[in-house]
Amino acid sequence: MNALITLSDAHVVHRARSGGLFTRDRVYALTGADLTIAPGETVGVVGESGCGKSTLAKVLVGVQRPTSGTVRFRRDLWAMKPAERRASVGGSTGMVFQDPSTALNRRLPVRRILRDPLDVHRRGTARERDDRVRELMSLVGLPRALADALPGQLSGGQRQRVAIARALALDPDLVVADEPTSALDVSVRAQILNLLLDLKERLDLALVFVSHDIQTVRRMSDGVITMYLGRIVEESPAARVTDRARHPYTRALFSATPGLLDPIDPIPLVGPVPSTIRPPSGCPFRTRCWKADEVCAEVMPGFAAASTPGHRFRCHHPLTSSTS
Ligand SMILES: Nc1ncnc2c1ncn2[C@@H]1O[C@H](COP(=O)(O)OP(=O)(O)OP(=O)(O)O)[C@@H](O)[C@H]1O
Ligand SMILES: [Mg+2]
Repeated sequence: MNALITLSDAHVVHRARSGGLFTRDRVYALTGADLTIAPGETVGVVGESGCGKSTLAKVLVGVQRPTSGTVRFRRDLWAMKPAERRASVGGSTGMVFQDPSTALNRRLPVRRILRDPLDVHRRGTARERDDRVRELMSLVGLPRALADALPGQLSGGQRQRVAIARALALDPDLVVADEPTSALDVSVRAQILNLLLDLKERLDLALVFVSHDIQTVRRMSDGVITMYLGRIVEESPAARVTDRARHPYTRALFSATPGLLDPIDPIPLVGPVPSTIRPPSGCPFRTRCWKADEVCAEVMPGFAAASTPGHRFRCHHPLTSSTS
């Protein structure tokens, strides 16, 4: 596959903190992640809170260095010198965060926020940078009159438009949006999602989209990645994920919020999510899985390919039809 970015066996291990102090414990935020994103592809990421979605997002845009493993963005990102890495990844990826009110510098007017990446990466002349700022504002549907407004003077939706424009400033190939609408008013969520989809088409961007709203993820994405306790456990074409996912966890997740047109029996997810400090042996999902047996406690299976291209899963006892 023509790859824009490739993760190979990427792990992120943090030192755990307790009461503000570091402990001896380790947090396994991302474990053995293998992933390839093609140019123009939209990849959705789903999984319960704490499963490593934001960690994966940050690894993809080079703000989180993996403890081990590689991130190749044309070249091995962490084998580059820092300045080279910043130029390479900063100039070709953009990130949109959950909360636009904390992600934007509240002391800078919109014009300066959007100009900053152009200045840092020395794109064009001063005149060209001003033109680009105007172009970016119109691209995301911000009225020109807001160029001198401070973030605090904007609505939540407008602030997220500024954040998206900033992510697009350097004409990236990949935009990673980590819960870009969850801090927004319900009424503006659809507008922001549609804007992202529209920009993705127009600018031929690859998009990684993280959200708790799994039905939105499914609708927006070409492929859906399911994460569980730091691991990617399934990668499925979006059209198959609701009733043809093979991993029990993916099926349980999607069965809990059926679309109106395709009601399916909800599969309950019982029991707590295990600790990321002491993940279970073998398959991390086994403590909540109705199909688990001894082998699941012993080894984490590798990826198996489903018959459909782009569909793979890590499970000893994958599901077959729409119920099993
Ligand atoms: N800097 C850090 N130090 C210690 N632990 C961390 C750090 N960053 C993340 N973690 C832990 O790593 C795990 C994965 O975190 P991450 O933010 O990637 O999860 P997430 O899937 O994005 O969750 P959410 O849906 O709540 O945003 C969690 O257990 C989290 O507490
Ligand atoms: Mg997160």
